[in-house]
Amino acid sequence: MLIRPSTEILPSEITPEGIWLNRRQIMTGAAAFGLAAALPAQAAGELAHRSSPLSAKDDKNSFEQITQYNNFYEFGTGKDDPAKAAHSLKTRPWNIVIEGECEKPQTFSIEELLKIAPLEERIYRLRCVEGWSMVIPWVGFPLSELIKRVNPTSKAKYVEFISLADKEQMPGVNRSVLDWPYTEGLRMDEVMHPLAIMAVGLYGKVLPNQNGAPIRLVVPWKYGFKSAKSIVKIRLTEKQPQTSWNKAGPNEYGFYSNVNPEVDHPRWSQATERRIGEFFKRKTLMFNGYGDQVAGMYKGMDLKKLF
Ligand code: MTE
Repeated sequence: MLIRPSTEILPSEITPEGIWLNRRQIMTGAAAFGLAAALPAQAAGELAHRSSPLSAKDDKNSFEQITQYNNFYEFGTGKDDPAKAAHSLKTRPWNIVIEGECEKPQTFSIEELLKIAPLEERIYRLRCVEGWSMVIPWVGFPLSELIKRVNPTSKAKYVEFISLADKEQMPGVNRSVLDWPYTEGLRMDEVMHPLAIMAVGLYGKVLPNQNGAPIRLVVPWKYGFKSAKSIVKIRLTEKQPQTSWNKAGPNEYGFYSNVNPEVDHPRWSQATERRIGEFFKRKTLMFNGYGDQVAGMYKGMDLKKLF
């Protein structure tokens, strides 16, 4: 796939319609329920949050870069398609159904999800399998806090994440580029790891539609495609779930997909990456630089076989 340098971003693309729609939806929603007065200091679309010691120290990419250069195949396969098309996504009402190997299967509304745990800003590196990277100030909460609410049974070994697939709202779903809905999966210890979060915002604001509104997964030590967007269902399973990218290319996209400069993609090297906005490539770090925190989970595993 071709990478478009950030310098080529057109000025006309810079105010993503999705963000304005998000703000409008929230404002009308709040007014309808008489909640406007309950949100005095917070401007519309802003999320109250605290900073996290788990943030990376790297320079952040700009809001424009993060919201204009996206992968969200439900809105097209071009990097600028999501910013142009994702305004058609309706993010309210929104629910996540959690089912499978748990004692308390239940449905959480987005309003309930926003209250699962205090929101934190987590500045994370995102390394895409295509060879580029960004640094994104997400706002979110630990995924583990959500999973704990449903009391996983001892049979829950894996967790499957399922994105919305609605042809009416998502033009890309009419094309069979992937087996819809987009699904991803993690092992239970990965799910419970403190670095894995559910993101509901970035740069202190409600998540723009093109970044996976209203709620998405972010797993910073894995290639970006593991971080499913616009999630509507989470299933706890005993067996390793199938994933969309693994089905599309079994020898190109494995289940684990940990960032690993030593395991090349069959069609290109993974040893280096281009940080969006930078000219020179940088070396890709094992586990995207989160090795100290996560390497222990893969001790004894052959990461070349289990890529
Ligand atoms: N989730 C869904 N539902 N559909 C997608 O096409 N693309 C993935 C991931 N999550 C994708 C998705 C890929 S390949 C990447 S690199 C990241 O989202 C990109 O996230 P960003 O656009 O917010 O940077």
